[in-house]
Order: sequence, then C-alpha cells, then structure tokens
Amino acid sequence: MAGQKPYYITTPIYYVNDVPHIGHAYTTLACDVLARFMRLDGRDVKFLTGTDEHGQKVEKSAQVAGVDPQTFTDRVSQNFRDLVGAMNYTNDDFIRTTEPRHIEACQALWRVLAEKGEIYLGSYAGWYAVRDEAFYGEDELTTTPTGRKLAPSGAECEWVEEPSYFFRLSAWQDRLLKFYEDNPDFILPPGKRNEVMAFVKSGLRDLSVSRTTFNWGVPVPDDEQHIMYVWLDALTNYITALGYPNTEAGGDYAKYWPADLHMVGKDILRFHAVYWPAFLMAAGLEPPKRVFAHGWWTIEGQKMSKSLGNVVAPDALISTYGLDPTRYFLLREVPFGNDGDFSRRAMVNRLNGDLANDYGNLVQRVLSMIQKNCAAKVPEAGAFTEADQKLLGAAGALLDTVRRELTVQAFHKAIEAIWGVIGDANRYVDEQAPWALRKTDPARMGTVLYVLAETIRRLAILTQPLMPDASAKILDQLAVPAEQRGFDRLAEGQALASGTPLAPPQGVFPRFVEEAGN
Ligand code: ME8
Ligand code: MG
Repeated sequence: MAGQKPYYITTPIYYVNDVPHIGHAYTTLACDVLARFMRLDGRDVKFLTGTDEHGQKVEKSAQVAGVDPQTFTDRVSQNFRDLVGAMNYTNDDFIRTTEPRHIEACQALWRVLAEKGEIYLGSYAGWYAVRDEAFYGEDELTTTPTGRKLAPSGAECEWVEEPSYFFRLSAWQDRLLKFYEDNPDFILPPGKRNEVMAFVKSGLRDLSVSRTTFNWGVPVPDDEQHIMYVWLDALTNYITALGYPNTEAGGDYAKYWPADLHMVGKDILRFHAVYWPAFLMAAGLEPPKRVFAHGWWTIEGQKMSKSLGNVVAPDALISTYGLDPTRYFLLREVPFGNDGDFSRRAMVNRLNGDLANDYGNLVQRVLSMIQKNCAAKVPEAGAFTEADQKLLGAAGALLDTVRRELTVQAFHKAIEAIWGVIGDANRYVDEQAPWALRKTDPARMGTVLYVLAETIRRLAILTQPLMPDASAKILDQLAVPAEQRGFDRLAEGQALASGTPLAPPQGVFPRFVEEAGN
C-alpha cells in the first residue's frame, strides 16, 4: 500500500574469516524475501547487508592466510558480495566496517556515550572467546578434562587481562526489562524472548568495550591505546548505513530509523537484544522495533563444520537444484525460528513435489490447454459458477494472509497458504475436466481455463518475493506487463484481459532426476 511508513531491514554483517555457506545465505534470503514483498506492497524499503571486518578473529585469520588484515578482508568480503548476485538478493547497500563512513559513525557514537557518562576506564580480567568475540563469566563456562575452558557455544576461551573501557550495562537492566515488557514483539520468536529476559533478570555486568592487546579495529577517540570492542563497532553498522551521525530531518536516519527488523541467527541474539538497545538508549537514540532470531541449519543431521568437511556452499546448491528451488526449499522446509536439517532427500522431495508436480504442472497444464484449444489467447469468460468463485476468492484472499504471516516472519505459513490455493486449483482442474468440455461445451471450457489462468496470475504475483525468476517466467507466459506485477494488481477488479495473445508455454520447474549411482 503506497504512502505507508518506510521499511528498514538488516542482516547480520558477516565475519570475513570464512567463505559464505548456506547459513549465511539463509539469513540474507529471509531478508530479501521480506524486502521484495514490502516493495511489491508499495513500501519504500531499505535493505542492508555487509561484512564485519575488524576484531581478533579476523586478524588471526589474516595471519594464518599470511596477508595483512586489509588485503585479507578485501578478498573475503568480495565472496559475500558475490553471493548477492548468486542468490539474487536486492540489498540497497553493502556495508563494510573498514569503510571511513563506518569509522566516523563508531567514533561519533562513542563520543556521545562518553559525554553522557555511560563509558568509564577500568581494567578487564576475565574470559574471552575469540571465535564468538564475546566475554564470558566464569559461571557460564565448562572445564574440559584437560583444563580448557569452553563457552556455552563450545568456543575455546582464553584469559584476558588488560586496561579497558566499560559500558555501564548494569545500569540498564531495569530499563531493558521495561522495554521488553512494553514491546512484547521486540524479540521473536517468543521462546527466545523468554531466554533473553531471563538472562537480563539474572543480572547484567558492565561490558568491556575496548581492547588494547591488538590493533585491528576502530580507534577509541582520544585514547590511541585502545580499539573498540568489535561488537560495539559491528552493531553500529545499522546506523552508519543511514548516515549517522547525521540525524537531521531529510536524511536517511530520520527516514528509516528505528529499524523495522534486525534479522539474526540465534547465536547472536544477546548482542542484538541486550547490548544494542542498551547502547542506543544510552546514547539517546531509539532502539530497533524487532529482532528476530532464527534457528540453526545442520547438514544431513550433522553440525556444519570445516573439520567435518560438510560445509554446504550456496553455489553448489544453485548449480545442482537451481536458484529458485534453493530459495524455496530454505524457507519452506523448516518453520522459521526452528532449527532445521538440510538433506538431499528433503530437497529433492520439495523440488519434485511442491514445485514440479504442484505449481509447475498446474501452470504447464493450463497454459498448454489454452495454447491448443483457445487459439493461444486468454479465453473469454462466461458467468462464474460457485466453484469458479470459490477458487478466485481463495486466490484473492491470499495477499491478506501472506501479509499477516510475514508481519511475524512466519515464512513457512505464508508459503503453506499459497500452496493451499495451488492445491485447490489442481483439484479444480480435475473436477472441471476442461479437456472433456472441449467438445461438449467449449464456452464453459473457456471459462474454466480463464478462471485458472487468472488464479495463476495471482499466485505468480505472490510468489515473486520467494522465487523471482520463476514467477517472472510465469507472468511473462501470461503476458502480464512488467509494470503490472505489484500487489496493487491483486485488488478487486484487476484481472487478465480476455483475448490477450499468449506465447507457447515452457516448463518452469523441471523435475530433478537423480543421476545413477547417487
Ligand atoms: O556473528 N544456520 O558473524 P558470522 C543458520 N559478525 N544460520 C547461520 C548458520 C547456520 N548453521 N551459520 C551462520 C557474526 N549463520 C557477527 C555479526 S552483526 C552486527 C555481527 C548465520 O559470520 C546466522 O545469521 O559468525 C548467524 O547469526 C550469522 O550467520 C553469524 O555470522
Ligand atoms: Mg559466527
């Protein structure tokens, strides 16, 4: 709907210590589908992704690779940019934390926090996990038989003792809890909200926000001994991209902040739902409207890891199964928010079932019948029967359902609703048997095929955010002009024009045939 508030959505910025895998692709995909949906729904969207390039973990990876950190981050960041093209993401910006605009924003935010007395100098002595770039309390760790200290994530912790600036996080405990109470949808899913609230209720310690034992980070203003803690640096990216510290009317910050949604994996919820709103409130800035923490992908039942050699690269899936089937699978297979398992069998079942048999076959059957029996034109429609109206009504009601489900990031439910109507349409084909009407009642055959073609138009408009290329092919085959594919075209009174010539149909979702020996 035009005239609505702008929509600002972000992905985590990914560490450049690693090449992208389907876990990273998944988070950004979810955001891409929402961004595309909101644009088709008439909203002004800003969709941000990027790379997190500072910190000890990246510095160490650069050392291992034998290059300086900037050369290393330039190289690895490019892999994440390449993923944008490969996955057909529509982000409006790609931020790198080594950019001057970001360093300026971080230092500006630091100065505000310091001026407000929210940051003080002290010294840190405690545990740090480089893999998580996180400080842990002794009580959170487990000790292995050989005396190694492990974080709850399994990351190895090391003892750190150094001068450090602290952020007065402990002072924000009550205000954070009030904020969660006042904004019950700030953290989704609800189970995750409960976990965060329990963590905050258990007591917050002041947070170390600077490091002195290495250099790869944003310098702390007026104290060159220190660089900023990588999470304070990283979280700030969400406002850097809006031109912070410029908060004047007319700028992007004024237009897009607070963010509508920070999409993250469950591993980094604490940083986004506790530290980030506390930093912002302390600086006198508004906290974001929502943080959604989605679940974790495993591969054929196993944790994805380099040492197991089972890391799934998005490129491999795309070349084997195709881009849109990959996009479909990732958001359909697992209820969004839950952990999920990627298996080849599940992927092939979805591809051959939901896509080839259900959606693809519907389109192919209907368009071929129109091609052969209706002079390759959108047929004339006579009066609609109850069955016709029921199918058109179900397709017409979909936008509201999908919009409602996506408001709470329930991708799987939105997709299920669309596939419910695909199922209705396939049953309608079988019941109406247009092929049998060809001789007995050609006018009725025309009406049935019209109802089906119009239903497919509505379905394909709605599947655009999830499967942009396949949906475009279907809409091309229905001769729907590119500028008539927005959700405003799903309104009452908008429908295919009878008599429009249609090109011969081509299959959109080929079946996946297992190669012998697989
Ligand atoms: O944490 N399943 O970056 P990161 C699902 N730089 N999602 C997965 C996944 C999996 N197996 N593996 C990774 C960082 N992800 C910080 C973020 S934000 C200001 C800074 C996704 O490269 C998921 O979104 O470790 C997770 O939160 C993110 O990648 C972590 O990426
Ligand atoms: Mg990580």
